[in-house]
Amino acid sequence: MGGSALVSILYYTFMYYLPAMTANATPVFVKKGKPIDAGKKFLDGRRILGDGKTYEGFIVGIYFGILVVSAYVVLAGDFSYFRWGVPSVIGALLGDMLGSFIKRRLNIPRGGKAFLLDQLDFFFGATIGIIFGGAAPSLYVISCGLIVILTLHVITNRIAYELKLKDVPW
Ligand code: CTP
Ligand code: MG
Repeated sequence: MGGSALVSILYYTFMYYLPAMTANATPVFVKKGKPIDAGKKFLDGRRILGDGKTYEGFIVGIYFGILVVSAYVVLAGDFSYFRWGVPSVIGALLGDMLGSFIKRRLNIPRGGKAFLLDQLDFFFGATIGIIFGGAAPSLYVISCGLIVILTLHVITNRIAYELKLKDVPW
């Protein structure tokens, strides 16, 4: 593989996943919100989603994610970025919620560690959203997204922890 092919893969990886990464990272600024599950418990007696998934966080994520997509639209003068960009943002947040749902079923408390699930729940949701929106990222781009997100997650969560935005460094 030539150097320019690698640059191209990296370029498309960030292009496709930046809106979703933004949507996934910005809800952390919501300190206290209204839990989406309204405090309700599932059949197993544990919270459906837990206090870490709030309406405010969802709205903030959608807002900043779509802001990034809007920047693409303005920069490229092409509205078609909304077609896959908006579903990728919504998919990321729904994927993150599904991740929390699975964690609660596994009896992992809010903020508890679930290796790979914590890092990749939003990535799978975003990928489904991108494809649902009619875009076709290559398998190289999707695999590269997986690696980039796993790496960035470690770094950004450490920063969020040091800034006291998160209680745990994962
Ligand atoms: N957040 C939110 N609403 C969302 C998603 C995230 O308010 N829909 C905020 C919460 O303050 C959450 C923080 O962003 O604590 C970090 O998100 P995440 O790591 O996904 O939540 P956790 O606290 O780790 O909870 P869980 O165990 O359910 O993943
Ligand atoms: Mg988490």
